[in-house]
Amino acid sequence: MAILEVKNLRKSFGATEVLKDISFTMEKGQVASIIGSSGSGKTTLLRCLNFLELPDAGQIIVGGETLFDAADPATQKERELRRKRLRFGLVFQNFNLFPQYTALKNVMLAMELLAKDKTADARNRRTPDEIEREAKALLDQVGLSNRMENYPWQLSGGQQQRVAIARALALKPEILCFDEPTSALDPELTGEVLRVIRSLKSSDRTMIIVTHEMAFARDVSDHVIFMDGGVIVEQGDPNAIINNPTQDRTIQFLSRFN
Ligand SMILES: Nc1ncnc2c1ncn2[C@@H]1O[C@H](COP(=O)(O)OP(=O)(O)OP(=O)(O)O)[C@@H](O)[C@H]1O
Ligand SMILES: [Mg+2]
Repeated sequence: MAILEVKNLRKSFGATEVLKDISFTMEKGQVASIIGSSGSGKTTLLRCLNFLELPDAGQIIVGGETLFDAADPATQKERELRRKRLRFGLVFQNFNLFPQYTALKNVMLAMELLAKDKTADARNRRTPDEIEREAKALLDQVGLSNRMENYPWQLSGGQQQRVAIARALALKPEILCFDEPTSALDPELTGEVLRVIRSLKSSDRTMIIVTHEMAFARDVSDHVIFMDGGVIVEQGDPNAIINNPTQDRTIQFLSRFN
């Protein structure tokens, strides 16, 4: 069964339609990369999947459960959307760590809040000891076991982004989304973040990655989606899309990377 089905998603801001009938499907453990030029709607799509924006039309189905249906107000209750949002994780371009907290505290914080939430799933109602152990294990997993007590300003961009990834993992999302995770980083720091994402793939994480790193997208993805002007122009096997695109707009976009 598909872990994610996105069906006929539409989103407008005022008179501008930014997403125009977006549909795609993912299987568990798959990695999908979204590529496309600036303004094509990539971030808006990730924000819709995380319910930071509500689509005007369409459905978002996770593991067979319709989390959101624009035609069904019963799926749009704010309180439930907060809970449904946890099915997705989101890692931003600019890390968005809390500057006043250490790396460890940044990872623990969301888990602590969730543990106090009576409506949270049982698996998220962890004890303080469990939370600390889990946060340390996650920081270790992203290669930061010696940086736990550092504040964001004491960390490089690549290290901050790895803390952000650990923090996203802490909430046990079923689908982890990345919005240009390396585009704020110097080239020499990009590699360490891409390595962490690669290691997540080998542990069977389902991920959606918006990226301009074409070689990485081709290597790590099972599926590539090319967006332009709010539509999916072409999607499919990474080699087919990136090495042998058939649509003019895809060919034109990719020619900029050669
Ligand atoms: N909150 C908003 N209000 C109005 N317009 C918006 C809003 N958010 C996005 N847009 C518009 O929607 C379009 C798509 O934006 P989006 O950020 O999704 O593109 P993107 O593909 O992520 O671009 P980039 O590669 O530059 O990050 C743009 O024209 C943008 O100006
Ligand atoms: Mg964007």
